[in-house]
Amino acid sequence: MFVPRSLKVRRNANDDDRSCAAKKVKPEAEDPQLGAGGDGPADDASGTKEAALAAHHGAQPRPLPGPASQVPEGGLAGPGQRAQDSDLLEEPVKSFSKTQRQAEPGEPVCVVCGRYGEYICNETDEDVCSLECKAKHLLQVSGVEEPLALGGPQKAGSEPAAPRPASYVYTEHAFISNLREDQIENLRRQLGIVVQGPGVPRPIVDFEHCGFPEALNLNLKASGYEVPTPIQMQMVPLGLLGRDVLASADTGSGKTAAFLLPVIMRALFQSKMPSALVLTPTRELAIQIERQAKELMSGLPRMRTALLVGGLPAPPQLHRLRQRVQVVIATPGRLLDIIKQSSVELGGIKIVVVDEADTMLKMGFQQQVLDVLENVPRDCQTLLASATIPASIEQLASQLLRDPVRIIAGGENLPCSNVRQVVLWVEEPAKKKKLFEILNDKKLFKPPVLVFVDCKLGADLLSEAVQKITGLKSTSMHSEKSQPERKNILKGLLEGDYEVVVSTGVLGRGLDLVSVKLVVNFDMPPSMDEYVHQVGRVGRLGQNGTAITFINNNSKRLFWDIAKRVKPTGSLLPPQLLNSPYLHEQRRKEQQKDKQTHNDLVTGANLMDIIRKHDKSNAQK
Ligand SMILES: Nc1ncnc2c1ncn2[C@@H]1O[C@H](COP(=O)(O)OP(=O)(O)OP(=O)(O)O)[C@@H](O)[C@H]1O
Ligand SMILES: [Mg+2]
Repeated sequence: MFVPRSLKVRRNANDDDRSCAAKKVKPEAEDPQLGAGGDGPADDASGTKEAALAAHHGAQPRPLPGPASQVPEGGLAGPGQRAQDSDLLEEPVKSFSKTQRQAEPGEPVCVVCGRYGEYICNETDEDVCSLECKAKHLLQVSGVEEPLALGGPQKAGSEPAAPRPASYVYTEHAFISNLREDQIENLRRQLGIVVQGPGVPRPIVDFEHCGFPEALNLNLKASGYEVPTPIQMQMVPLGLLGRDVLASADTGSGKTAAFLLPVIMRALFQSKMPSALVLTPTRELAIQIERQAKELMSGLPRMRTALLVGGLPAPPQLHRLRQRVQVVIATPGRLLDIIKQSSVELGGIKIVVVDEADTMLKMGFQQQVLDVLENVPRDCQTLLASATIPASIEQLASQLLRDPVRIIAGGENLPCSNVRQVVLWVEEPAKKKKLFEILNDKKLFKPPVLVFVDCKLGADLLSEAVQKITGLKSTSMHSEKSQPERKNILKGLLEGDYEVVVSTGVLGRGLDLVSVKLVVNFDMPPSMDEYVHQVGRVGRLGQNGTAITFINNNSKRLFWDIAKRVKPTGSLLPPQLLNSPYLHEQRRKEQQKDKQTHNDLVTGANLMDIIRKHDKSNAQK
């Protein structure tokens, strides 16, 4: 009988001192078709120098723990797990084999040979397929990997799994303390940082000011993060101090690292797991954030992530959860399913991040997010981030936060200024022709082009039409595609396999599509906030990009909003929009509302009028 390997978790009596590699899961019975192919490492036999090194690093499986330690601290052990664990007692960690099967979509991939990464390296938390690949991997990382030490260089040759320091307290660096208040204000002004709230710490200007472990400093450098971006300068010290934050900053301005750095530093010093939770609206964004978290956490002792997203088999995700993970990155739906099965205990969570917070707190996601937050301790730190935080969300957000600090970095709710925005008036029947013209225009066409439409069928049909008429390699992307398909399309988009990808809003938020230089909003998004995010798939962190948007009377209710939020970026708007009676009517209504609000305010100028009016109405009574 096939027993899912997710239930066969090889664990050590002492959780913090695990065996070399924990057995990973195969979600389904092995497919013989997937067994062969691909180049393996040069040394494919056991008994190599790498194998010896692996053995030295504890690569042999250790005896399984006794019954008491079967239940991880996260409370994840399922019924019957012990019996199944004991099935594995005699099974050693595999040696490298060229016939090790390839990973199926969603399965872990060996970081050395690219095959199915059946084990987790206990020292780096990377996926490996065998003893030999683990050894090679350790050789590759040796010299880079440093044990944990705060704020100073590491001693050579010390043990990678150094004991976890008891705590970390952020203290302002002397360089920052020595700046005058007016210099800090000037710095914030020049960087476009606005802060609101009590007791806001000064921004950092260098990651070194945070006193991070050396391994983390090295990881930042390895990721090319030499200096913090404005949102990171202000949000990182706040996050490190344990403060609740509501942050908005331009698309592509580095919000992910701004919340991941506090997440990592909080999680690093907790023994109860998981201790950090990141929620995102889409699977692709969760996958991207997990990748970035792993990059930043590499070499930090006992830091692991679990990705809990729909569309992928649940058993591997549950298996991963059982590996004493510190950081959970999840979409709300899948996480709620797992919570309902009592397969995860969130009582140890110290920090929660809600990325793309505005869409996560809107109808649709709101209830799920609130349900998840019900399961984390009330006193945990909360960070909310997005490029757009509309006023309506600010109210709800502030109810979820304690003494929050509001940070606005860049233009509030505006499209990123690196994006060249072109808004064209195109009637519905002419839109396809216009798109083909753009794709044929040598100056404008810079593949891959990302085209946004408003429905799934529209994405399929338009992608087919593009391929047929222009001959360009095109595909469609939407939520009805299977997760493996979605993964391949995104990979193809990033690696230049497609010249055109026609997508619904599923690719509209958070994704760092660095290769995309041109976005076309074939259908105007339903709100200006979504517009800001969709055009923000280009122009990431100082890069340039172009966004072309087709507009006509179908979006008439947005005309005034478009004028208000696109014009300040210097873009020209079509005369049909600027002269539209709808725009004038919307502007008039808004001015009237503003005037009303203004009249309702009691000022020195209108105080006497208000008193007179009051007396008059009393006299009439
Ligand atoms: N300090 C830094 N130095 C250099 N590159 C950075 C830095 N911080 C972030 N980046 C890079 O900038 C790009 C955009 O970052 P990120 O995805 O975090 O943006 P974002 O603000 O979350 O955007 P969005 O609103 O679209 O989600 C990424 O490629 C990231 O690796
Ligand atoms: Mg983001």
